[in-house]
Amino acid sequence: MAERVEIFEVGPRDGLQNEKRQIPAADKIALVDCLSRAGFRRIECASFVSPKWVPQMADSGAVLTGITRVPGVSYAALTPNMRGFEAAMEAGADEVAIFGSASEGFSRANINASIAESLERFAPVAEAARERGVPVRGYVSCVVECPYDGAVPPSEVARVVSALRDMGCYEISLGDTIGQGVPEAVDAMLSAVLAEVPADRLAGHFHDTAGRALENIEVSLGRGLRVFDAAVGGLGGCPYAPGAAGNVATERVAARLAELGYETGLDMAVLSEAAEMARAMRG
Ligand code: HMG
Ligand code: MG
Repeated sequence: MAERVEIFEVGPRDGLQNEKRQIPAADKIALVDCLSRAGFRRIECASFVSPKWVPQMADSGAVLTGITRVPGVSYAALTPNMRGFEAAMEAGADEVAIFGSASEGFSRANINASIAESLERFAPVAEAARERGVPVRGYVSCVVECPYDGAVPPSEVARVVSALRDMGCYEISLGDTIGQGVPEAVDAMLSAVLAEVPADRLAGHFHDTAGRALENIEVSLGRGLRVFDAAVGGLGGCPYAPGAAGNVATERVAARLAELGYETGLDMAVLSEAAEMARAMRG
């Protein structure tokens, strides 16, 4: 039997958060519902951040409460602080994510905090989630390159990954936020991170700005990672990362994984339908 690789669908969050035109909640809900039918086990569809910082995500509560939940699918939300966590719980998020950075410049630009301050803010969120039995995922942005600080040392990535592991994150997603990572740099970063955290607690999160995301996924597969974040239709970017293009497109990752002999469990026909919907939403 083919070995399983999971695609963690982030299009409705990481994809749509950067769209300038306000997309109606009903369209977002229709996209999530289509993705649920495509066979994903985890779909990130909400972000409880400041609506002044990311206006597109202001209707996250309406999206989470409006979707048709498929049993067994975990609907995830970003929660930068306790206020976001409470809102996510009220809306019925199945899991939450805290999101830090390996570079100071991006941490400041994205969440208005130093790395140390951000970890302090995340601690009560992780603790509250643990008390309620809610799984917490961690993100580390700028694992190879930062739009403000340049190249990021692998040791810094490993340090932040370890801090998120110590807080109880069940999985930590490694973000090449601006999609500038070359395979050699990704490999060196993974080598440092794997000295701290095993591959089965890591995910790869590649933006495709320079067209190297699939290569970087292959490097990560070689290092033992078996979870990759992707956005249907190649939606996305990050409003606080100038130059960040979309996430690598889910349908391209699924096709490449199939060529490499891995099983994703996705229905490719339904996935094409979702990609069509996503492309129609793009500004
Ligand atoms: P701040 O200004 O330092 O904090 O923002 P604050 O506590 O002073 O709050 C500012 C305002 O936001 C206040 O409102 C708060 O009430 C409100 P005001 O008094 O001005 O009217 N506020 C909130 N509103 C709703 N929900 C909340 C919340 N918290 C505060 N949870 C903060 C700090 C973290 C809130 C802000 O910087 C922020 O929202 N940043 C979010 C940035 C973001 O969402 N970026 C994109 C996601 S990360 C990403 O895409 C990378 C990733 O994909 C991985 C990768 O690719 O690398 C994950
Ligand atoms: Mg991202």
